[in-house]
Amino acid sequence: MKAIVYERYGPPDILELTEVEKSTPKDDEILVKVRAASLNAGDWHALRGTPFLQRLESGFPKPKNKILGADVAGLVEAVGSKVTRFQPGDEVYGDLYWCGFGAFAEYVCVPEDAAALKPANIPFEAAAAVPQAAFTALHALRDQGQVQPGQKVLINGASGGVGTFAVQIAKSFGAEVTGVCSTRNLEMMRSLGADQVIDYTQEDFPQNSQKYDLIVDIAANHSLSDLKRVLTPQGICVIVGFSTLMHMLKVTLLGPLISKAGSKKLGMLMPKENKQDLADMKELLESGKVVPVIDRLYSFSEIPEAIRYLEKGHARGKIVITM
Ligand SMILES: NC(=O)c1ccc[n+]([C@@H]2O[C@H](COP(=O)([O-])OP(=O)(O)OC[C@H]3O[C@@H](n4cnc5c(N)ncnc54)[C@H](OP(=O)(O)O)[C@@H]3O)[C@@H](O)[C@H]2O)c1
Repeated sequence: MKAIVYERYGPPDILELTEVEKSTPKDDEILVKVRAASLNAGDWHALRGTPFLQRLESGFPKPKNKILGADVAGLVEAVGSKVTRFQPGDEVYGDLYWCGFGAFAEYVCVPEDAAALKPANIPFEAAAAVPQAAFTALHALRDQGQVQPGQKVLINGASGGVGTFAVQIAKSFGAEVTGVCSTRNLEMMRSLGADQVIDYTQEDFPQNSQKYDLIVDIAANHSLSDLKRVLTPQGICVIVGFSTLMHMLKVTLLGPLISKAGSKKLGMLMPKENKQDLADMKELLESGKVVPVIDRLYSFSEIPEAIRYLEKGHARGKIVITM
């Protein structure tokens, strides 16, 4: 089968479109013929092996997974002997982040638990846009942020892959949502349901008098003290984004201290596997409460170019690869 492969850490130019042996599903896996995949920051961090700590997860001294791609949608071609929920021909989508990546290929083996039937009302390209970015938004809002109806929620970095899901998911929980984005994305933000928008090129939200019950900081471009200042007394700030290693260290070390010292909570999002997420998102997608926003579609051979585009940090929604 064809796959986009890398053998060492480096820039997108090192990715190679090549023939590799077609995967065979284990007893608890399904073999998926990939119809679409999508890109996440995790792909280019794993490609470059940066920040250096990333290599603890991706492999040292060279990458342990040679094929990237965590988000996948496609057709079940074969099932392992212990698989009970799927059969050949099923349309599925899945999250390979916790099970070795591999979506940038013609076929990929997916553990049964890491897949769900594709929402019936959306095409493969839209389904592939969902897993990582939507789960990140869901965990930040629902799990760590404990979002409640009527709360004032601010999403900083609202126009990217995670942000466009976060705005819609927060609305689906009944929150009053403020989206922070640049001028060109203000209209998109309103069309996704944001009640208020802040143009970061004109206004610095921590300088405003408005307070928020929950801040999901995806852009990660403000200090902890700035974020703390605009939280309500019991407010929670979940930091999703990653800007510099120093920023991450500060959040990791100071966040728990600030949270212990007072009633406001600030901390880094702790990603964790949740097998229920695919089913939860399927419901939100089928009800139409959440619609994936796709910025650009790239073909399989254009994956290096697609990663270069994502790395620039100005995507409007998700970058999707079609097979
Ligand atoms: N994708 C995932 O699954 C995932 C999971 C966990 C963590 N993360 C982390 O979350 C961060 C963002 O991920 P993403 O996938 O949403 O990125 P993305 O798709 O590349 O989007 C980045 C967005 O940030 C906006 N932005 C840039 N500067 C900004 C500023 N100063 N204020 C507000 N918004 C700004 C950009 O909008 P403009 O073009 O208007 O500037 C763009 O829409 C990354 O640090 C990533 O590591 C991502």
